Amino acid sequence: MQLCLALDLDSKRACLDLLESLKGFKLLVKVGLRAFVREGPSFIKEIQNMGFKIFLDLKLHDIPNTMASAVLECAHLGVELLTLHASSGAPALLAVMEQVQGLKQRPKILGVTLLTSLDEAQCQSLYNAPLEQHALHLAKLCYESGLDGVVCSVFESLVIKEATNPKFLTLTPGIRPNLQEVQDQKRVGSLQDAKTAKADFIVIGRPIYQAKDPKETTAQILESLEHANL
Ligand code: C5P
Repeated sequence: MQLCLALDLDSKRACLDLLESLKGFKLLVKVGLRAFVREGPSFIKEIQNMGFKIFLDLKLHDIPNTMASAVLECAHLGVELLTLHASSGAPALLAVMEQVQGLKQRPKILGVTLLTSLDEAQCQSLYNAPLEQHALHLAKLCYESGLDGVVCSVFESLVIKEATNPKFLTLTPGIRPNLQEVQDQKRVGSLQDAKTAKADFIVIGRPIYQAKDPKETTAQILESLEHANL
């Protein structure tokens, strides 16, 4: 299981200061839309030059040609993980995978099934389907289209692997090393939950960058992940 640090801080300086203190740790840095729009591709290079791999969380959603060409540009940035919306549909997902297939080095492509901000009623109104059923349907679509995995809640990871393939990757946000600090997350899980769910990647943001000592907190999390029994 690999740790992804969500880089959701307000300024470039704050992001770089945090990363400076975490140099040498084996973690992926999750750069989302906000930081990418603000700082651009050069920011990605800067982080890579500090020795970190990048999870570029852009959640792309467009027509097949636009998706495939945008993914190619992202691949050229040398990122490790990239997200797109499963609801872009099979033709777009297939076009993306065809585009990256021939590359010497390509990012792992992960599908976002349903945004966790959608509730049951909104899912019914948008897709005329129950939420869990629709999320699983989209996860299977990602698998059948050749994607490497999905972003999902820690509570869906096992079901998705059972319905697809144990090697189909799951990346789970909302992980709390200390369950009392849930912030605005609704469905949080512990490191043990993530391990039980066989999550391949976990995303942790505030518990690290808001910690008194982010370096010590990161060291403890990585240490816990290495132990068979948390
Ligand atoms: O600070 P925290 O650990 O809650 O950060 C989690 C990160 O994962 C944030 O960047 C958030 O946007 C992202 N995320 C999430 N839930 C999802 C998808 C992404 O919390 N379903």
